[in-house]
Amino acid sequence: MDLYEYQAKELFARHGVPVPSGGVASTPEDARSIAAELGTPTVIKAQVKTGGRGKAGGVRPAPGPASAEVEARRVLGMDIKGHTARTVLVEQATVPFEEYYAAYLVDRAKGTFLAMVSSEGGMDIEEVAATRPEALARVPVDPACGMDAETASLLAAAAGLPAEVQDTVAGVLVRLWRVLVEEDALLVEVNPLACTSDGRVLALDGKVTLDDNAAFRHEREAFADPPAGDGAAGLEARARARRLNYVKLDGEVGVIGNGAGLVMSTLDVVAYAGQRAGGARPANFLDIGGGASAQVMADALEIVLSDQDVRSVLVNVFGGITTCDAVAEGIVSALGMLGEHGVRHPIVVRLDGNNAEAGLAILDAARHPLVRVVTTMDDAAELAARLAAA
Ligand SMILES: Nc1ncnc2c1ncn2[C@@H]1O[C@H](COP(=O)(O)OP(=O)(O)O)[C@@H](O)[C@H]1O
Ligand SMILES: [Mg+2]
Repeated sequence: MDLYEYQAKELFARHGVPVPSGGVASTPEDARSIAAELGTPTVIKAQVKTGGRGKAGGVRPAPGPASAEVEARRVLGMDIKGHTARTVLVEQATVPFEEYYAAYLVDRAKGTFLAMVSSEGGMDIEEVAATRPEALARVPVDPACGMDAETASLLAAAAGLPAEVQDTVAGVLVRLWRVLVEEDALLVEVNPLACTSDGRVLALDGKVTLDDNAAFRHEREAFADPPAGDGAAGLEARARARRLNYVKLDGEVGVIGNGAGLVMSTLDVVAYAGQRAGGARPANFLDIGGGASAQVMADALEIVLSDQDVRSVLVNVFGGITTCDAVAEGIVSALGMLGEHGVRHPIVVRLDGNNAEAGLAILDAARHPLVRVVTTMDDAAELAARLAAA
């Protein structure tokens, strides 16, 4: 999960990394009152999960409350690289004397953490890395040892920071490391890490990516974006809330299966069948996992059928620990739960594995007008693709 700048700064502050005071506003009026409370010159910053806001005009100085309102009106609703600014961060303007760069990230190639520090922050760090690699210190961090004051000082020196700020920067680097480890982040990046003329060092920007696999160890509800309507993000958020492994794709054949491998191969088979029959493609990936209860099947069908692009659904289940008759019962009661309005497209079902015959008999007996049972995976994909193209 990527965080907004203001959320990253909340985490920084929690771990003692200095950040400018500020507050988040979703209306120009709120921006004005935050600026009035701060009582100093401010900057109005678009909150979007992408970089380059400064260049795009999404970071604007506002000397007082009245201009904070004017600038917030300008920035709210602004589109930056396809992201709409729904909120702005109103924060104390800090005049940076120098702009540095600091980041920790997971170096997947080397299987360790990497610290990157540069005296040339503020601008495009990729450009610094490409044109002046010697200006960017890249040092692996042993996760077992972490980042102590001594290592951090060496890092600050390797980055070529002025001697008089090295200790202060080292202190910040140690705290940023705590953000990475204690918050279970995959990336912590500060660009610029500002040094002021009176020798203070503070994070003027913050980019944090949290490791979703560690979510259970933290309280992160406050960081979640509200579900985003009926688009892909909205469907995916709804599926996540029901603990379904769902990824929206851009085709027309809804795919539900048990086990990631089976679902992946089902996507392939549907894509091939679609090439032969009218160009239909898979509309999603949805793995219902091992225990396909009626409720899980109802949730899965409900999510897939509420995708406006879906024209047919393929349920491809291989009975194992959860037997085919249990899955068939799940499908039948799911159809009952969803009712006529919930099920408007044909559903092709292919069951194989444990108790397949009993499962097929249950579907047969239910005689649902939109359910078509097919015995092989290829034929099922063929039919689902044809129905979607019809
Ligand atoms: N609180 C602040 N006070 C003064 N200048 C700021 C402040 N925050 C950002 N800036 C300036 O705006 C530039 C861009 O802001 P930043 O937060 O880095 O956004 P982005 O990286 O998306 O362009 C920074 O390099 C810095 O020079
Ligand atoms: Mg920046």
